[in-house]
Amino acid sequence: MTGIKGLILSGGSGTRLRPITHTYAKQLVPVANKPVLFYGIEALVEAGVEEIGIIIAPQTGDEVREAVGDGSAFGARVTYIEQDRPAGLAHAVLTAEKFLAGSSFVMYLGDNLLRDGVPGLVERFREESPDAMILLTQVEDPSAFGVAELDEGRVIRLVEKPEDPPSDMALVGVYLFSPAILDAARKLEPSDRGELEITEAIQGLIDEGREVRSEVVSGWWKDTGQLADMLEANRLVLDDIVTRLDGEVEDSRVEGRVIIEEGATLRNSLVRGPAVIGQGAVVDGAYIGPYTSIGDGVRVLNSEIEHSIVLSGSSVENLGARIEASLLGRDVKLTRSDSLPKTMRLLVGDRSEIEIV
Ligand code: TTP
Repeated sequence: MTGIKGLILSGGSGTRLRPITHTYAKQLVPVANKPVLFYGIEALVEAGVEEIGIIIAPQTGDEVREAVGDGSAFGARVTYIEQDRPAGLAHAVLTAEKFLAGSSFVMYLGDNLLRDGVPGLVERFREESPDAMILLTQVEDPSAFGVAELDEGRVIRLVEKPEDPPSDMALVGVYLFSPAILDAARKLEPSDRGELEITEAIQGLIDEGREVRSEVVSGWWKDTGQLADMLEANRLVLDDIVTRLDGEVEDSRVEGRVIIEEGATLRNSLVRGPAVIGQGAVVDGAYIGPYTSIGDGVRVLNSEIEHSIVLSGSSVENLGARIEASLLGRDVKLTRSDSLPKTMRLLVGDRSEIEIV
């Protein structure tokens, strides 16, 4: 079988990552200074899937278009498909019907990261051509996931967030489908949470006696839908980086694996990797600790930060305490003033979360 297309879901509402997602597609939040979405595109291209449709939401679609362009930078041809509302993964598939045009396809959730990508899975799907193939991983708390009941690798039942899980094998955000999934999706009614559920569509295929196979993921998998997972993904990706010091390093110590991009300046500072410092960033009199990604053009002056992600254009200056386990959005200004009276002055967007020491 040739001509498998890719469908990356980069719409959704991202409620669990507010306030970042009020102004930004969560799939564009960088992990180790690269948008999560780019890892997915690269994974598909690596697996030989170059014709890619990207589902976008009306609010954040333009930003995704601007970041990814026509896909040529990735060796892909990208078509954008606007989904008018986040009505579920199966709804996204139906929205993409014209793009899919009867092809088999890999569906990849745009906020998911897989260390080893998907080449083995796509290869097996090409060889065996079942009606669907799902990717599974063992989890400690299956009741928080879609869970598969298996019989010698064949999937016999899927249950969404079960109270009494039939196994500890949860669905990972990558699926392979023959066009039969569209008919199954068309038969769905909205679930209790008002969405057309892809698990129900796959269950429909099983009930019709169609072949649904599974494969267990190799390497780690991370869904970056909430802050703790985003930071964990950042940690996992940074764990694999190779040192590269292209910026200027003056009177500073760099320990462990660190990337300092061109045009970045490090002065009187200690960077303890794994960490990455983006283009044009200025780090002066600062400590950057393990598992930290400092975005392009960020300024960190007389401050300490670790296990965090700081997006481009932000500045952190003269703080009296170390920042950790934090995600700072774009163009955020965080500073300490020594003037009297000793008050706090805040301009904070909706649904921000701040813990002061
Ligand atoms: P989710 O993270 O399950 O949903 P969400 O983005 O609405 O987030 P939250 O639960 O925090 O409100 O979605 C998984 C991926 O699929 C994510 O990249 C968004 C995308 N998606 C769509 O493109 N269309 C949809 O209708 C839905 C539900 C998700």
